[in-house]
Order: sequence, then structure tokens, then C-alpha cells
Amino acid sequence: MRLHQELEARLRSAVAAVLPDAPLAGVAVRPCPDTRFGDYQTNSLMALAKERKMNPRQLATDVLAKLEVAEWCEGVEIAGAGFLNFRLKPSAICHALLDPLRGGPLFFSLAAVPRTVVVDFSSPNVAKPMHIGHIRSTALGDALSRVFRLLGHRVITDNHIGDWGTQFGLLLIGWKSHLDSAALERDPIGEMERLYKKVNADSEADPQVRENARQELVKLQAGDPENLAIWRRMIELSQVQFDTIYHRLGVTFDHTLGESFYNPRLKAVVQELTEKGIAQESRGAICVFSDGALPPKEDPFLIQKDGEWQPNPALIQKGDGAANYATTDLATLAYRWEVWKPDEVIYVTDGRQQLHFRQLFAIWRRWHPGLADRMRVAHVWFGSILGEDGKPFKTRSGETVKLGEVLTEAESRAFEVVTQKSPEISEAERREVARVVGTGAVKYADLSPNRQSDYVFSWEKMLSLQGNTAPYLQYAFARIRSIFRKSGVGIHSLPATFTLTHADELSLAKHLLTFGITLEAVAAEYRPNYLCSYLYELAGHFARFYESCPVLKSEGVERESRLVLCELTSRVLKQGLSLLGIEVLEQM
Ligand code: ARG
Repeated sequence: MRLHQELEARLRSAVAAVLPDAPLAGVAVRPCPDTRFGDYQTNSLMALAKERKMNPRQLATDVLAKLEVAEWCEGVEIAGAGFLNFRLKPSAICHALLDPLRGGPLFFSLAAVPRTVVVDFSSPNVAKPMHIGHIRSTALGDALSRVFRLLGHRVITDNHIGDWGTQFGLLLIGWKSHLDSAALERDPIGEMERLYKKVNADSEADPQVRENARQELVKLQAGDPENLAIWRRMIELSQVQFDTIYHRLGVTFDHTLGESFYNPRLKAVVQELTEKGIAQESRGAICVFSDGALPPKEDPFLIQKDGEWQPNPALIQKGDGAANYATTDLATLAYRWEVWKPDEVIYVTDGRQQLHFRQLFAIWRRWHPGLADRMRVAHVWFGSILGEDGKPFKTRSGETVKLGEVLTEAESRAFEVVTQKSPEISEAERREVARVVGTGAVKYADLSPNRQSDYVFSWEKMLSLQGNTAPYLQYAFARIRSIFRKSGVGIHSLPATFTLTHADELSLAKHLLTFGITLEAVAAEYRPNYLCSYLYELAGHFARFYESCPVLKSEGVERESRLVLCELTSRVLKQGLSLLGIEVLEQM
């Protein structure tokens, strides 16, 4: 058991001794936000007192009298309105480092009840280049999947690519009448993008083109062999592009079940929803309206217009009989439930899809009321990436910024930084450092802000060796590894007992202990930025420790104990960064 769990268990026993009928599940011990008051604290007693109309400080006093934590704590104090603050003994802190040092889990424990979690992320569209916005869904979804996995959950990652829909009508016309084969050979995505733009512009000028596109689409949907073959070719070419980028990012998926996979199921979904009275016909289309179960403010099928609540239905079948994005997502969720029986399904997309997912989840609950408590669904949304001018990030000519180009530029900028800093290392090595630093910097810049706020894309900031950046953390890691190279000690010669006395040693060690609590918060709230802040603080604690506590110049147990802190810090940095999908290097 981790230290805070031991404290929690003892606290629960003390509460049970004072209030035999109290629910204990919510009684928790957490790191103290302000370390001047203690290392850990609980605010649970105040809630218990409130429910029972007791005086919270009195309850805290009674619980404290029954609390047996002397093995681990120097003292426990009642504070404020009824907090208990725990201060750890250095011996307990040292003891808590032993198991991780010997190769046990690094300050985290596996979930007591493992869950099956489906993570739907990245999901780019076929025949289009992956653009800078795709880094968001890809980096966030990948980091969350990795954290869930480490905590012992069964994770299923699924790339729900956009490989079906009206754009193929236009693309088919383009392919049949305007294809430049040489260009397709050179740059398939560029050529498909050109075709799409051309025919789209044509269709705006000429209604006949629009009608032709509609017919091509109908033929595709009816299984016309020629159209199917072209469509398959477009998917194949796009997948090559996706795979190249995923390879560079180190991201993999368990499944890539695109929208087209669900096509055969759509009719049945519409039919079932209609039969159940959840969907109804409205002006030739089939829609889901509000059932009035929710207050208007929370009802995704209502919208406020001119001071009044008006219907805002979800369309699941268009007037021409075609299904759409919402229908596909309903079929997708039904499939996931049927096949994987997940406890949780999370969707990582842009904040602009919030209404879509609120409607999707609401329809799902009406369709499967019994599953509401069995399968949690969540939309993990994010804000936009802005340029330095505060407007959506675009190229100088106003085009969307391609993700592949961003990664290449990140690497070449990182190469310049590395060359300046370490001209002595070989070019091949500098290229490798540049790859790891460049991709790491782009991912970290995306993961470290609160995902729901917009952030400004800044090369200077993300590649800086100072501040909350990937290069800073990667550099901190490499610096610790160099201490080991200089000292000549390997991890196997590290001691079994050690002592920590200096305040900076103790704060570093205490921060290490909270790694797992941070990961649990990342998983509970779908927020990898908590892990970024944690790692940045860890590097800060390490820098202060390294400044005030000489490692290689010290001797005996002191030297060994400090090397233990170096070793564990480097392991947590490495593990933490790898959860963010970021690599480290022994030398930079
Ligand atoms: N392809 C969609 C887009 O580019 C994202 C799909 C997200 N996943 C889902 N199940 N709807 O916006």
C-alpha cells in the first residue's frame, strides 16, 4: 500500500470508531495544497459533520483521539473548519521509496476494479491532409490511453476515421474527370485535396455538378464496382499518410473502424429508434426531439431563440433517405457496447462537437435506459490552436497548417538548438536528439495547457530549455543520467537503507510519492495537463535539491541516499514523459 493509502485506512478505522454508521468510501487523504500546513490532509470530516449536523472541529478532535498513525506521522493537527493535516516522518518517507527503488510500481498502484475503456481519438478524414488540429485529439487520446493502461485498465483504442459521406460524391467526379496521375503518384493527398477543392468550387457555380456528385454518391452507396474501387483506393492512399504520421508520433491503434464500417447498420438504427418512438418523421426527415425530461437549460434538443426555447432536433435521416454523422455515431456506440461491453467510452474531439455528443448521449440513454449506470460515456473536448496573432493558426497564405510539416519544422528547429548547444556530437546523433526533442516539444505544448482553453502556437516557447516545456524535462532527465555516468555507480549498487535529512531532499521525495495520485486524477478527469504540471514541479524540486545538496561530492550514506533520489527522479521523469508519448535520451 502507498503511504497515503495507509493513512486513509487508519483514518477510516478512526472514523468508524467514532461514527459506526458513517459511509467510509468517501473518506480520503490527499496531498496538502500548501506544504506549510502539512504533507497530507483530509477534508472528509467536515462533510461527515455537516450531514450529521455535528460541530466539525469536535468531530475532528474525536477522530484524532482514535487515530493511530504514529509510525508514519510526526504529528496530526486540526486546522481551519475541521481539516486534519498530517506531517510525515522522514523515516516513513525513506521507507516508501524502497519498493519503487527495488523495481516495484513507481508510486502508483493498479486500479482495484479494472475497467474496460474505449478511447475514440484522432479520427481524421480520408482524402484530406492531417492538419495541426489533429495533434490535439491524437496527443490527448494517446496520453489518456497510456495512463489508463498503466493503471491496469483494459484499453481499446479506436480510430473512427471519416471514410464515408457526401464529400465522396465530389471526389468521385474529380477523380473521374480531372485526375492528374503523375501528381497522384507524387503527392496523393495533395492531389485528392486539389480535386475536392476544384469540384467543390465547380459545384457552387453549377448546380449540374452538384447533381452529378449526388448521383455518384448514390452509385457508391448502392455498391457500384467502379465507384467502390476508386473509393477504396482513396482510403488506402489516405491510410498511408495517416500511418506515416502516427509512426512519427509513436501512436498506435487497436482498431481503425471508420464510419463506413457502420454503413450496413444504419437503416436498422433509424428503424429501431422510430419504432421505439424516440425518433419521428418531420418534413420528410427523421429526427429526435426533446422528450421534456430535462430542464430546458440542460436539454440538448432545445435552443434559446428570441428569448424562447425552440426545438433543436437531432437529424438521423435526411429527406433523401441518407443517414449522417449522428446516425453513424449511434450505430458505432451500439457496436462498441455489443462487442466490447465497455465500462467507459470516451471521445476526444474539438469543442465544436459538444452539441453533437450531448445529443448522441441523450439519444443513447433513451434508447438503452438500462445501461446508463453500466457504461459511462464522455466527450473529452478541447479548444483551438491559435497563431501568435491570437487568431486560428494558419499559414501565411491563410491555409490550414499541415501536421507533417509542423513535425518536420519542429525537428529542424530542434536540430539548430542541439547543434548550438552540443556541436561536438556527431550529426547522426544530433538528428536523433532533434527528432525526440522536436516531436516531444510539439506534443507537450499541446498537452500542458488546460485542454479546454485555446493556446498560442509558439516555436520559441515550446522549444525553450527553460520553463514548462518538453525540452526542459528531457534535459533534466539527461542531466540526472549524466550524474550516474560520472559517478560510475549503477542502480544495483544502490543501498537498502538510506537517510534523508535536508529539507530539499525531503520535499523532492515527498513529491515523488504523489506521482500515482496525479495519474489517478488524470484518468478521472481526462486531463493529461495534471501530469505535465506534476513533472514540471518534479524537475523544479530536483533542481533545488541538486543546488543545495551535493551528490557526487558527498560521502557514505549521504551520497548513496542522494543517488537514490536521483535514480527515482529520473525513473519518474521517464515514465511520466512516456505516458505523454514523449521519449527521453540518456544524453542530449
Ligand atoms: N472525423 C471526425 C472529425 O474530423 C471526428 C470523429 C470523432 N469520433 C466520433 N466517433 N465521432 O471531426
